[in-house]
Amino acid sequence: MDLFNAAMTVRENAYAPYSNFQVGAAIRSASGKIYAGCNVENVAYPEGTCAEAGAIAAMIADGETQITEILVVAGGAAKVSPCGGCRQKIAEFSTGDVPVLMADLTGDIEKITIGDLLPAGFAKDHMDVG
Ligand code: THU
Repeated sequence: MDLFNAAMTVRENAYAPYSNFQVGAAIRSASGKIYAGCNVENVAYPEGTCAEAGAIAAMIADGETQITEILVVAGGAAKVSPCGGCRQKIAEFSTGDVPVLMADLTGDIEKITIGDLLPAGFAKDHMDVG
């Protein structure tokens, strides 16, 4: 519930004048601290950033590198699922079994792991040329 409340609170500040789709994300790190972020759009559309990216940046800026749980919340008919780029960003700081909680505005939550969201993803081992 802490993660949901943190994501809902930060979502209020989402800057989404182009999509009108406000998103909030909250991470629980290895220390137990919670880091939140919202989407920040830009008139040059590709320059916009996702809520997950904001939450990850806050965690890294605070000196932590391990996600133990992440929750994403948005409106809309279906519960929001992290975009492809965000899956890669989450995976960078997670083990495959890290839960990704996808919430709607009422607090109804669907749970999946980052490993299931990004199977066979590009990882550090692929750069190991021996
Ligand atoms: N968005 C996120 O912030 N996170 C997601 O997981 C999906 C999409 C944002 C990006 C953009 O500002 C808006 O939602 C519509 O795509």
